[in-house]
Amino acid sequence: ADLGPCYFVIFGATGNLAARKLLPALYQLEAADRLNTDLRFLAFARRDWTLSEWLGFLKQSIQEHLGDSFDAAVFQRFEARFDYVMGDLNDPQAYKRMMDELSKPRMGVCENMVFYLAIKPSDFLVVIEQLSKIGISRTHGRHRIVVEKPFGEDIASAQELNTKLHRYFDEDQIYRIDHYLGKETVQNLLVFRFANTLIEPIWNRNYIDHVQITVAESEGVGRRAGYYDTAGAMRDMLQNHLMQLLTLVAMEPPAILEADALADEKVKVLRSIRPIPPQGVGEHAYRAQYAAGRVNGKDAPGYLEEPGVAKGSATETFVAAKFYIDNWRWRNVPFYVRTGKRLAENSSLIAIRFRHPPQLLFHDAGAAHIDPNWILLSMQPTECMHIELHAKEPGLGMNTRIVRLNASYRPTQATTMEAYKTLLLDVVEGDRSLFLRFDEVEWAWRVVDPILRDWSRRRDYIATYPAGSWGPREAGRLFEREDQVWRNEI
Ligand code: BG6
Repeated sequence: ADLGPCYFVIFGATGNLAARKLLPALYQLEAADRLNTDLRFLAFARRDWTLSEWLGFLKQSIQEHLGDSFDAAVFQRFEARFDYVMGDLNDPQAYKRMMDELSKPRMGVCENMVFYLAIKPSDFLVVIEQLSKIGISRTHGRHRIVVEKPFGEDIASAQELNTKLHRYFDEDQIYRIDHYLGKETVQNLLVFRFANTLIEPIWNRNYIDHVQITVAESEGVGRRAGYYDTAGAMRDMLQNHLMQLLTLVAMEPPAILEADALADEKVKVLRSIRPIPPQGVGEHAYRAQYAAGRVNGKDAPGYLEEPGVAKGSATETFVAAKFYIDNWRWRNVPFYVRTGKRLAENSSLIAIRFRHPPQLLFHDAGAAHIDPNWILLSMQPTECMHIELHAKEPGLGMNTRIVRLNASYRPTQATTMEAYKTLLLDVVEGDRSLFLRFDEVEWAWRVVDPILRDWSRRRDYIATYPAGSWGPREAGRLFEREDQVWRNEI
């Protein structure tokens, strides 16, 4: 029987991702009693810390993110699992020290280990090579390696990374994570589409006018410029999270709910996305960078003033794009996607706009024209589903008004952590169904590469938008018709 991993090594343990998401999620698994008693954690980072300094950082990260739900007794159990190894990712000696820790005699059976790369993508290969040098690869144990997105920085580098990974690890040992797949609303999209006969018959070009996917964040780049400035919104968000959302909205029902069956359907969608011609990038994608402004009533600096951002950087913090899926279901239905930092609100929304009825018989009391139906699936700030329908305005006239069928299935809360909690448990338990298959990653790069190539030739100028706004107005130019506008909120 698979006894599960005995060690969980976190590279980049003092980084932003670890502090904000991984460590709190692991703590929550501890609180929920889901961690095997034998499991130990090893934090690997550059800071010259003692174990107790590390534990101080650990406690602070968890308290910051959990507030009142912090439980001292749970934390005591949790911290007792940790060791700390100080070292540079390039330094072979550091890996030797790590190996010494990992090989210490211990109680119980040690089956395999998890290596979580919570580091800059440009360091992935370094770590994998160093690991193989100390004997960590497919030949010893069934180790699992978790790779954060973005997987590569374009199609060529993604392929290279994949080839190298496969030199040392088998596919079933590789967990390519996209935490959006661990989100409740995202999983619910599948249930909503495929468990309701009501929905699926109208989920196509005959009834749907267009689809919008927005992931708006009010936060800025924070202390992540070292990574973000080389990535930008396209690589950080669109190529992975938004593309995954798009495929889940668009895909055909899988024959069974199983990892490969799902991946097959997702890949079919990605392969059907109409390629963006090199000369036509401007009509399909728009990028911009935040300038100083006000967010939630507070002054916010511009991107160029953030610590660690290169002077005069043209990295985009906002991207909007339009895609067409050339298949029977979706031909000529535009999918508009956008994401950005320092926008007015934290709001993540999949908005499906339906067509107008063939003939307009009624008037909307308040509006010049009648709004079509919408289905809204919101991930932030709340997780809920809305369907907008028309009903008669009570009274003498024959006017209509919009009524909303509202299914909130979870109150407001930090959903991010939940997503990591689900996925980290899957890693520990060896369930890969919510992780990406390489061809998904590869086809997603194929879709966005022409845009990135075009932008990389124009690094001398980037448009801006004020922090705290809904992004640059020009993002509206992607729309096909005047009656299509961005839907910011539910
Ligand atoms: C991460 C990106 O993958 O997702 C971040 O690197 C972004 O830039 C984050 O802030 C958003 O995740 P969530 O779950 O808060 O929507």
